[in-house]
Amino acid sequence: MKQAIILDGQQMAQELNNQLKAKISDLKTSIMPTLATIIVGDNEASHIYVANKNKQANNVGIQTKAFYLTSDTSENELLKLITKLNQDESVHGILVQLPLPKSINEQTIIEAIDANKDVDGFHPKNLGLLMLNKPNTVACTPLACLHLIKQTNCQISGANVVIIGRSNIVGKPLAALLANLDATVTICHAKTKNLKTHTLSADILIVAIGNPRFIDESYVKERAVVIDVGINRLANKTICGDVDFAKVIDKASFLTPVPKGVGPLTIAMLLQNTWNNYTKQLKL
Ligand code: GUN
Repeated sequence: MKQAIILDGQQMAQELNNQLKAKISDLKTSIMPTLATIIVGDNEASHIYVANKNKQANNVGIQTKAFYLTSDTSENELLKLITKLNQDESVHGILVQLPLPKSINEQTIIEAIDANKDVDGFHPKNLGLLMLNKPNTVACTPLACLHLIKQTNCQISGANVVIIGRSNIVGKPLAALLANLDATVTICHAKTKNLKTHTLSADILIVAIGNPRFIDESYVKERAVVIDVGINRLANKTICGDVDFAKVIDKASFLTPVPKGVGPLTIAMLLQNTWNNYTKQLKL
């Protein structure tokens, strides 16, 4: 039985980060690319994620301004900070880590960030431009999935792509990204009838549902490319994906592991988005 090739997202991220680091060290200006990161409250996972984002940004030479606001911060106070950062020419990217405390409207905050400083691709203007196939900033996880798919050299044009999960930050923008590349895209979700009839026709299957090891080999077409976006923490503290890796590896042609698959590439894409915003703002 031929086993799937495991797509090493960690190594791909390292390569992208090394290339970016070289570009930054070659800069002829003293204005360094700068990312502002904001966390509100004490969500433990958010603190771990953002610490990792700041660290990796610094590793490639992107400067960071980290703001840690207490959970009783009002929406107005957060809006004031965002307005200040929008106006600050030394800041090229702004990232507000989600989720926010219930007292703050997330959509209001997302829309307050200057679309040209948005590094998450969550701003409605950036989502709209993606729909129009005139992308400005695209969300990091969809970009990470696309990068992994491109590494397989499979043909995207005309491919049947099935995405399980319809979130605004993964499923929907990824569907647009792949439709723009001429794939035939199906979005499935919790209300989808006969999920297997869809997934078994997928040349490329992308799973972003947050349900540990939900997808076994019975959902996978022979030799499909399988991308696992899930990051699930099990009771024993280990992390696993939405795909049952051990069962799918004998059926797929390419498979992403969890951890070290989509995750590290998502941060690499954040750094790319920050760099792209920087070069546009400085007209480099
Ligand atoms: N929370 C979970 N994922 C993300 C992300 O990609 N960006 C932001 N800003 N918050 C998140």
